[in-house]
Amino acid sequence: MEGCLFGQLRALEENSVSATTASNLTIQNLNKSYKVAGGDVEALQGINLDIREGEFVSIVGSSGCGKSTLLRIISGLENGYSGEVKIGGKRIGGPGLDRGMVFQEHRLIPWLTVEQNVAFGLNGLENGERDTVVREHLELVELTGFAKALPHQLSGGMSQRVAIARALVNNPQLLLLDEPFGALDAMTRIQLQQEILRIWEAERTTMVLVTHDIDEAIFLGDRVVIMSSRPGTIKKIVPVHLPRPRDRSSYDFVQIRKEIFTEFFADVERPFAYEI
Ligand SMILES: Nc1ncnc2c1ncn2[C@@H]1O[C@H](COP(=O)(O)OP(=O)(O)OP(=O)(O)O)[C@@H](O)[C@H]1O
Ligand SMILES: [Mg+2]
Repeated sequence: MEGCLFGQLRALEENSVSATTASNLTIQNLNKSYKVAGGDVEALQGINLDIREGEFVSIVGSSGCGKSTLLRIISGLENGYSGEVKIGGKRIGGPGLDRGMVFQEHRLIPWLTVEQNVAFGLNGLENGERDTVVREHLELVELTGFAKALPHQLSGGMSQRVAIARALVNNPQLLLLDEPFGALDAMTRIQLQQEILRIWEAERTTMVLVTHDIDEAIFLGDRVVIMSSRPGTIKKIVPVHLPRPRDRSSYDFVQIRKEIFTEFFADVERPFAYEI
């Protein structure tokens, strides 16, 4: 088991882009389809996207338009696609320590404590250094007092913060967030948006966030990528040139929200009434 885990970590290291390489992500003419019941389901079609180092990009799109598929391809968990996906000019060959991922559900290991969950997968450090890195990351997500707690003793928001710490612990160049706050109540969600903003400003990790929440996409992103329904294509990319922290009720914020809603529902025959 240990040998197996060691082998997996070696593979993660080999697939990583070194920290000295620029972390910009380049996606060129990406197409992905799945075989389902003998037929082809086209999930992504002709995706072209460049994300620069340190950028925060939000992705919105209707259910089933391929957002998770896109993140899984970037993370290296999904292959069998056509086109190019490169980080720092290097083709992605599988999962790597240079990429962290946070999912809608926290996926913590239930029998490990918070600090053990964060330390899990932390690679290549002596024990003392490991403890320091774990402590720093628990501080980063403001969970210092909960190091010895088990996942079932945490709230949903706290569990997601542990998942964020775990994803950041290897100091990835790219953090992929797949609806990380989707299962949380509105207040906790807003709190965690502020936390991820603080972490992004402190760490300057490149972040790609998939969300159904248009306000969240505008609040956090330098750009909002709007995807069409299946097969997923990029319909429009809306830049958000507003100073942070952003005021969700400001005139400019509301105008951007309106632009995204209009684009989002442009191909829906009877969009529901939306008043601003
Ligand atoms: N492993 C798989 N095998 C077959 N089809 C798949 C697989 N994963 C995804 N799909 C299909 O690809 C399409 C895109 O799925 P994906 O999960 O990427 O959508 P999504 O935009 O993340 O949706 P949601 O917002 O509901 O999470 C869907 O039609 C889905 O059924
Ligand atoms: Mg999804």
